[in-house]
Amino acid sequence: MKGKSTIYDCSVIELNKIHNRSGNITVIEGKTDIPFDIKRVYYLYDVPGGAERGGHAHKDLQQIIVAASGCFDVVLDDGKNRKVIELNRPYFGLHVVPGIWREIINFSSGAICLVLASHKYDKEDYIRDHNSFTKFKDENSSIS
Ligand code: TYD
Repeated sequence: MKGKSTIYDCSVIELNKIHNRSGNITVIEGKTDIPFDIKRVYYLYDVPGGAERGGHAHKDLQQIIVAASGCFDVVLDDGKNRKVIELNRPYFGLHVVPGIWREIINFSSGAICLVLASHKYDKEDYIRDHNSFTKFKDENSSIS
């Protein structure tokens, strides 16, 4: 359970890009190109205009978020600080560490939000209420 983490622990990782005249490839291997083993991959698509996703934090799970197509903004919040990161290239991955509230907004038409996750799906790992999140951060502020 990560209470001590801040938005400054989250960073945009520039991924590799294999150029080809007929198209590019970006390869992501767990623990090589990103800091953790990948246990699950999912992607958001067909997001209607104006929709907002996320709106939760994870206690232990960490993620890489990639705009595989199109663009969107990720709002990061650690209970004290907030920042907005625009993702608009398929070779940039936003590393979101555990204990960070995130919202994903401003999806462009046809955007695909690819998520590489460090854990399998576990609903107990989610904090879905922002007041519970700030309480969690206060109570666990000494635990890194
Ligand atoms: P959720 O994580 O709330 O989506 P987002 O944060 O992107 O808005 O998930 C939406 C629904 O999908 C919810 O009912 C849980 C389900 N879900 C799974 O069953 N497995 C998964 O791996 C994920 C990511 C979601």
